[in-house]
Amino acid sequence: MIYILAIESSCDDTSAAVLRDGVLLSNVTASQAVHEQYGGVVPELASRAHEQNIVPVVDQALKRAGVEKEQLSAIAFTRGPGLMGSLLVGVNFAKGLALSLGIPLIDVNHLQGHVLAHFIREEGEPYSPPPFPFLCLLVSGGNSQIIRVNAYNNMQILGQTIDDAAGEAIDKCSKVMGLGYPGGPIIDRLARQGNPDAYQFAKPNIPGYDYSFSGLKTSFLYSLRDWLKDDLDFIEHHKEDLAASLEKTIVDILMKKLRMAVKETGITHVAVAGGVSANNGLRNAFHDHARRYGWTVYIPKFSYTTDNAAMIGIAGHFKYQDHEYCDINSPAFARMQ
Ligand code: KG4
Repeated sequence: MIYILAIESSCDDTSAAVLRDGVLLSNVTASQAVHEQYGGVVPELASRAHEQNIVPVVDQALKRAGVEKEQLSAIAFTRGPGLMGSLLVGVNFAKGLALSLGIPLIDVNHLQGHVLAHFIREEGEPYSPPPFPFLCLLVSGGNSQIIRVNAYNNMQILGQTIDDAAGEAIDKCSKVMGLGYPGGPIIDRLARQGNPDAYQFAKPNIPGYDYSFSGLKTSFLYSLRDWLKDDLDFIEHHKEDLAASLEKTIVDILMKKLRMAVKETGITHVAVAGGVSANNGLRNAFHDHARRYGWTVYIPKFSYTTDNAAMIGIAGHFKYQDHEYCDINSPAFARMQ
């Protein structure tokens, strides 16, 4: 039997998971509330919290799985991209533990982990992952990409954001509105009660499959500034409509390029992944496209949209099967390699 312990610490979630033969036995995540008061992730505080969380989180994951560390076949870990200080905690913990147990190390690219979240298998749960090749819209706080997934270990980025990520744009607009952090879930909740056609914001006009969200962010900011001149309580009076219109604009931008990619590649199996895939407006747009254009869509469970070690574990499991191990000297990387 293959037992994999997986560790994820790329941003502000410390997570550990245990898998047996590719089936998830446990997935434990400690999120960091400390950042809320700053309206964004503070890297130094994130590293310190990881340092505090890593031992209890790994311990819990092993206990819940009923697995002893001596049974482990390998340790998979997120090597990047992410915040360097955060990554270093997970990377060095994984290296130390693998070395002491004399078992292989498997490095996982965080973004590939998000895509492979669709292959997480759980006892007693239906399992219907997308067939290769499929397209994946990866939308998180740090990335917005359209990826052609040819195999577990063969992914081609067709397009990506040239400035802000979709999640980053939502978080920044929410901050401008004086809402909490992270803004994504708050905007999502407010948007459900608002009119998505109440306001228009700028949409980018750039070629190919690339995205851009900085123009929308500026247009949102300037529009608010003008409206606030006439009504100081404009945000309070219209926050539902503002959230719904902002969400609709972002979903429209994301889906337009995705439709183009489906049309030009002829691939109609389409998945969504990353933190923003928790968004209800985006999920509805996927279902709507499935009905309207005959796509087969793949939407992850809410628990596997944001950062988690289960996705790192399944990516690690596939690499273990291919004997793709990582050298102990391999450093963490902050940016895409
Ligand atoms: O994938 P993720 O957990 O972290 C990385 O960036 O790697 O994504 C976090 C992003 C944040 O921008 C957050 O606001 C956004 O995902 N998010 C959402 C929702 N839940 C989280 N955005 C829109 N609607 C949501 N329900």
